[in-house]
Amino acid sequence: MMGQRGKQYNVAVVGATGIVGAEFLKIASERSFPLKGLKLLATERSAGTRVRFGEGDIEVEATTPQSFAGADFVFISASGAASREYAPVARDAGAIVIDDSSVWRQDPSVPLVVPEVNAADVEAHQGILAIPNCSTTPLVMCLWPLHRRNPVTRIVADTYQSVAGTGTAAVRELESQSRAWADGRVPDAPTAYPHRIAFNLLPQIDVFMDSGYTKEEWKMMAETRKIMHEPDLALSATCVRVPVFVSHSLAVHAEFAQPISAAAVREALRDAPGVVVQDDPATSTYPMPQDAAGRDPVYVGRIREDMSRPNSIAMWISSDNLRKGAALNAIQIAEEMIARALV
Ligand SMILES: NC(=O)c1ccc[n+]([C@@H]2O[C@H](COP(=O)([O-])OP(=O)(O)OC[C@H]3O[C@@H](n4cnc5c(N)ncnc54)[C@H](OP(=O)(O)O)[C@@H]3O)[C@@H](O)[C@H]2O)c1
Repeated sequence: MMGQRGKQYNVAVVGATGIVGAEFLKIASERSFPLKGLKLLATERSAGTRVRFGEGDIEVEATTPQSFAGADFVFISASGAASREYAPVARDAGAIVIDDSSVWRQDPSVPLVVPEVNAADVEAHQGILAIPNCSTTPLVMCLWPLHRRNPVTRIVADTYQSVAGTGTAAVRELESQSRAWADGRVPDAPTAYPHRIAFNLLPQIDVFMDSGYTKEEWKMMAETRKIMHEPDLALSATCVRVPVFVSHSLAVHAEFAQPISAAAVREALRDAPGVVVQDDPATSTYPMPQDAAGRDPVYVGRIREDMSRPNSIAMWISSDNLRKGAALNAIQIAEEMIARALV
């Protein structure tokens, strides 16, 4: 990593016992994030439990407003309520806060960052930075390299989002419903979602808004515009929860200002940082959630010219929602700030 050679940082993680928190600890260890100290925080429920990190383990503490003294970075991946309460407290204690919730994403004073797309936005930070929704990140990673060459004018994105995006409780629910089905038992009433998720599809993620879109769909639209600095970009999304454990996928239709070929898209995306093209129909090679899970890149394939509209392409994306969709992107933002000597 570039930046301030040898400097190390005190880091606190709020939500360290969660599914994103666990991935965060794994990635911080894999990437040898320059840690001076690591404080693991969660609720009172988890206080005293020990979580593995590298060769050892660390005791989890309950989060309090005093938890952030001396922290250089505070990563919050817990709940909207925790982000709302603790982000300003941690910032006021002098830490850089990198937040995983939707609470701060649309705040004009909060950069919303995917380093491969808008890294320079970190410069404008005022103590709190946000990472996007886990479907928005792979979308902008694949659109941005195309948009720079040929402006994108309209996007239709339909998502296939895994249960890991809802957190630990939803992963357990898919497991127990699948086990009940295999055993010929009636599963317990669903609690993570309004309907059974095993062997089903739910065309609802988050609450419905007056427009008829869900909040998740609205987030994808608003966040894409903010990250790409295109406030008028036309975008429509349908977000669907699918019975997949980890990794979100997207079917994307994008229209451009100028003619565009599938070959040009493949070439541009082959050069795009953090993106891997997997596209060989002859061998049935294309991105799938099972292959994206546990890996860092955003995978894209099924790239073709859209026969229904001029200047349009269709493509299919899969990426690990816990890694690039959450923990990895958060760590990359911290690395970017270190490289730019902003901390
Ligand atoms: N999953 C994804 O793909 C994804 C992607 C992007 C963003 N996010 C966001 O990341 C956050 C965490 O998601 P998750 O999937 O990791 O959920 P999760 O598995 O349910 O874990 C939640 C974690 O937050 C802790 N927590 C909850 N309320 C807290 C509070 N008031 N104070 C301190 N800690 C609290 C929990 O502690 P206990 O163990 O003590 O209960 C646990 O460590 C959410 O804001 C979510 O929207 C998730």
